[in-house]
Amino acid sequence: MPGLDDYLDALEERLARTVATHPGLVAAVGNEALAAGGKRLRPTLVFLSAPPGGEPPLAAGVAVELVHMATLVHDDLIDRAHFRRGKAAAWSTYGPAAARATGDYLFARAFAELSATGDAEAVEILADTTLCLARGEALQRTQTRDPSTTVEAYLRRCALKTGKLFEAACRLGGGSGEYGLALGIAFQIADDVLDCSGATIETGKIAGTDLRDGTPTLPLLLAAQRDAVVRAALAGGPMDGALVRVAATGALDEARDVALDYARRARAGLDGELHRDELEALTHAVVDRER
Ligand code: IPE
Ligand code: IPE
Ligand code: MG
Ligand code: MG
Ligand code: MG
Repeated sequence: MPGLDDYLDALEERLARTVATHPGLVAAVGNEALAAGGKRLRPTLVFLSAPPGGEPPLAAGVAVELVHMATLVHDDLIDRAHFRRGKAAAWSTYGPAAARATGDYLFARAFAELSATGDAEAVEILADTTLCLARGEALQRTQTRDPSTTVEAYLRRCALKTGKLFEAACRLGGGSGEYGLALGIAFQIADDVLDCSGATIETGKIAGTDLRDGTPTLPLLLAAQRDAVVRAALAGGPMDGALVRVAATGALDEARDVALDYARRARAGLDGELHRDELEALTHAVVDRER
């Protein structure tokens, strides 16, 4: 993809620079999270959404990746997840207080980068989006250990906690938000399937975290409708053998079908974009992935 490698190289340099702005513990912890890698999918969406002729906005890519990283640092603390990007999660090494502060710092750096462009509308988009991420997590909290959570309420949560940031990445690049929102929902459903069946060597995370935490994801909800042991585990009961039973119900394939449907919706929203082929390819890749 012409230009993408250069864009991502510039992004890495700028991410490292902005995280190092205020040397100290949070900068060091932030830098470790940064150095652990990640797919850089959201900045890639910024790049692919940029109109022909102009420079794809670098500050927007940096800002969305920083917001993403901030949410991951906080997310692992909330989820008590010990592993991220194949390394120990920040809270697990440095403790909850340092992880909280690091996430806050990364949010602050995101807004510093974007506001330096003077683009008030872009800052407003990112501010609204950041609030949506928090609302998605709050909604998830109300759904915890509730196997009767509706699919509709689950999808609302996916839109808030994941879809909205994908939408923002596309809009900040200059493209259509509808594509990003549907793509993000497909991505989160696929992530929730990977949490049931993924291999740590690929995902860099430990499977079974959602079930242990009582987070009612689509595959777990569908399995709970068919298997009393899964239902009890999701409600907070013993987990032994429950993940194997989830797979046996067929819920993973069924959840994948819903992800494919959102990927289809994302494709349907594409119309005459410059990087149409790449954006279309992404709608397949977000579902058919192992990491
Ligand atoms: C993980 O996002 C969090 C979710 C929204 C499921 P990614 O899978 O994009 O994480 P990295 O950046 O590649 O590590
Ligand atoms: C997505 O949910 C988290 C955010 C949007 C921050 P998860 O809790 O499933 O993300 P992972 O699986 O830990 O990356
Ligand atoms: Mg998590
Ligand atoms: Mg989480
Ligand atoms: Mg997950």
